[in-house]
Amino acid sequence: MNRRERRAERLVLACFAVTFLTGLGLLGVYTLGGDTQVQGVLLALCLGGLGAGIVLWAQELMSNEERVEERHPLGTGPEGSAAVAEALTDEAGFSRRRVLQGGLVAALGGLAAALAIPVLSLGPAPGRSLFETPWKKGLHLVGFDNQPVKADAIPQDGVVTVFPEGFPGSADGQTLLIHAGADRLQLQGDAATWAPNGFVAYSKVCTHAGCPVGLYRAAQGQLICPCHQSTFDVMQGAVPVFGPAARPLPQLPIQLEADGTFTALGDFSEPVGPSFWDMRLGG
Ligand code: FES
Repeated sequence: MNRRERRAERLVLACFAVTFLTGLGLLGVYTLGGDTQVQGVLLALCLGGLGAGIVLWAQELMSNEERVEERHPLGTGPEGSAAVAEALTDEAGFSRRRVLQGGLVAALGGLAAALAIPVLSLGPAPGRSLFETPWKKGLHLVGFDNQPVKADAIPQDGVVTVFPEGFPGSADGQTLLIHAGADRLQLQGDAATWAPNGFVAYSKVCTHAGCPVGLYRAAQGQLICPCHQSTFDVMQGAVPVFGPAARPLPQLPIQLEADGTFTALGDFSEPVGPSFWDMRLGG
């Protein structure tokens, strides 16, 4: 190995060492709380070191020359000595390759440490939490003050935002209780039995992108989402009749108690929120 090759080898190893150390450094900075600028610089050095090392290795230490291997001479004369010298050179090249390969493996280890950061940032898996809300059988429908809402407090065409008892302000439990009128509702099957005395309850979370659906146009019996104007037909199970929402607002099964309050018969008929569910449920 000549001087130039030795120098190139040292440079390649130095590049790989930079990748290894900056990869570990990146993981360390992230573990200690993270700093966007420092992490950016370390990631640039990590990837840059690996790239520079590979390019140097390819350009300076790999031969493009085509060689024809002659048959080795027999005996121990001058030709035999030349063969021995060539064999030693090959051996040196082989050990150099092993050193460089070791450096490359270490560099890839550093890079793997750096790439672990996005995985560590994912946080805990949501589990079943996206499919369920706090609503359970027997929970009262309450207002922001956690007090049960009474039927006689909601006039015809009135709308109240309600929550599961004990969860006032719940983001996924927020529900619109609407006094739509028994003569106007056209619900089918179980949905019809979940609407006592003309009161019906739908999730307030828009099935398009999750905005709170807040506008009730009583004359048309329609709920409108202010974000992208998705419109839901309250009388027909809150099916979307306009806008980008692709599925109805889930209905909350409720019953009217003797004291005029409402309780839930269970959780919503379907998962609430944006149409991610269509992909999961529709297959
Ligand atoms: S979030 Fe309701 S229409 Fe887009």
